[in-house]
Amino acid sequence: MTPVLVTGALGQVGSELVPALRSRYGVDQVLATDLLSGAPDHPSLGGPFEQLDCTDGVALRGVLERYRIKAIYHLAAILSARAEAEPQLAWRVNMEGLYNVLEAARQVGAQVFVPSSIAAFGPSTPHDPTPQDTIQRPNTLYGVTKVAGELLCDYYAQRFGLDVRGLRYPGLVSYTAPPGGGTTDYAVEIFHHALIKGQYTCFLGPDTRLPLMYMPDAIRATLELMQADPAKLRHRNAFNIAAFSSTPAELAAEIQKHRPDFKVFYAVDPVRQAIAESWPHTLDDSAAREEWGWRPQFDLRGMTQDMLEKLSARILQREA
Ligand code: NAD
Ligand code: SER
Repeated sequence: MTPVLVTGALGQVGSELVPALRSRYGVDQVLATDLLSGAPDHPSLGGPFEQLDCTDGVALRGVLERYRIKAIYHLAAILSARAEAEPQLAWRVNMEGLYNVLEAARQVGAQVFVPSSIAAFGPSTPHDPTPQDTIQRPNTLYGVTKVAGELLCDYYAQRFGLDVRGLRYPGLVSYTAPPGGGTTDYAVEIFHHALIKGQYTCFLGPDTRLPLMYMPDAIRATLELMQADPAKLRHRNAFNIAAFSSTPAELAAEIQKHRPDFKVFYAVDPVRQAIAESWPHTLDDSAAREEWGWRPQFDLRGMTQDMLEKLSARILQREA
């Protein structure tokens, strides 16, 4: 189904989803949009781009009509740590932005993808594993917007028949773009520091276990869910998807298998530590496996090896 619009296209996910969508549907069929304008060599800028604030519903509707958009991947958001620092902004972007997208999609008849997160769970959720359908009482503003967003998506599907689908992404690890102010950012930063400085000071404690996923798996999951047979989707929205779980100490040890001199220190940030401790350790993703055939391809070992190879090549290229 084309043409496609991506909001928040310059972020960590958009930097890999936009090129993947363009290689699937054609460069001109995918309109990347973001609040910001990107550097000319940004991976999402190799095709059509518009600056678009998702909190501006009129502008959003205008773009959808102008480009005759048939599917929206709504990635614009304020992530967990930044949301604790700027809760009013996070509410506006995460909730008003989502409402505008759902409402505009309803009006033009577009399919919608909306990512949720492990942040949609809270301290009273069972953490090992976290079931698909369970207690959701997050104590972070980001988490509150993710649960409210899941419910709003369900409402639009049930009330208006909108084809809106979504995944609860674990913490995503990638090398193309930096993460945007989340609690799992350490799992990306650690690779850059390992390769450039040979040491890293982690803001989470060594034994903080969180579900993580390598970006190629997250992108594939997104594309697979959007193409899944709707008749088989019992949940449709907010699917748990899992690949592996790790602590900072385990991730550091995996990197040290390739870089034995790499050193890790810990200086715990209480805000991000508290956020991380409220989240799942592992996820039960059986609904995604049963309803649309989800299977991860990367475990901790495979992800670490690929990250080090790809990131080393990028660093060498930058230095050349
Ligand atoms: P990111 O912070 O890297 O990128 C978000 C993008 O949204 C940025 O480019 C930013 O400029 C843009 N943006 C901010 N406000 C905007 C506005 N008002 N209008 C338009 N664009 C705006 O985030 P990401 O990691 O790419 O996350 C994408 C989605 O996936 C989000 O919904 C996020 O909650 C979810 N998610 C991400 C992770 C992760 O580990 N990266 C994990 C779970 C869920
Ligand atoms: N990786 C995200 C964050 O830490 C989880 O949604 O905010």
